Amino acid sequence: MNRLVRPGPPPVELVARSTGSGRRALVLLHGFPFDHTMWSPQLRDLEARMRILAPDLRGLGKSGLDPETGASLHTPAQDVLAWMDSEGIERAAVGGLSMGGYLAFELWRQAPHRVAELALFDTKAEADSEEAKGGRVAASEEIRRGGMAAVAEGMISRVLGSTTRARRPAVVEHVRRMMLSTNPEGALAALDALRTRPSSVADCPRISIPVLVVVGEEDVLTPVGVAQEMAASIPRAELRVVKEAGHVTSLESPEVVTRALRDLVDRSFPELNR
Ligand code: MLT
Repeated sequence: MNRLVRPGPPPVELVARSTGSGRRALVLLHGFPFDHTMWSPQLRDLEARMRILAPDLRGLGKSGLDPETGASLHTPAQDVLAWMDSEGIERAAVGGLSMGGYLAFELWRQAPHRVAELALFDTKAEADSEEAKGGRVAASEEIRRGGMAAVAEGMISRVLGSTTRARRPAVVEHVRRMMLSTNPEGALAALDALRTRPSSVADCPRISIPVLVVVGEEDVLTPVGVAQEMAASIPRAELRVVKEAGHVTSLESPEVVTRALRDLVDRSFPELNR
């Protein structure tokens, strides 16, 4: 794992998996409450073809947390740009799943010239509704009282599709492991960031780079209809619906996601394909 210390006060130590080589670069942003290992199948299958940077976002996975600055997507986006600087990646295809997708929008707002193409997995452009905000507050209270164990099983039943819950025990276990190893303080900061994130709806028509929108057909958190609407509002978007997968498509249907990312990166750097 690579390490990067972001200046404070207090300084925060972040970790990321950085692998592969070459001028094609892919940045992968994970969802909540997960870590970079939700991209393990893609890291394994794509590292021979390209550079891949998959950070643990601040407060999550094994990355540290500054409680003062954790509660927004602004700082995590600055972190990703700092990672790209330190890894010598000027421009990359950026893939984000759910919270990672919200962050991908924020990255595009902050530094559009560094984003070659976007892949938005199981995510949406809207900000939280009042009902969703209430759900974040309730989840935070449960985590304060009982830690991650208090919310993990309920979350598993919502983030994983029915097919995965019935037939893919290793994926269920992987997701449970990521949730239970999440630092509760980091989860609370992330819930605040999710609750207060800005809407990206007005940005969608202005995104002129090609965008791949991917959604699991069994995703109940960001359902197919939401992905269709988002894709329709982005001028150069292409929509792919993944069969027999819920919200965590990278683990639930890894081959389809790997292929989507490979196509995306090949398209992002056409000058290298000649
Ligand atoms: C995620 O997977 O990142 C979460 O579902 C995001 C959210 O709760 O909005």
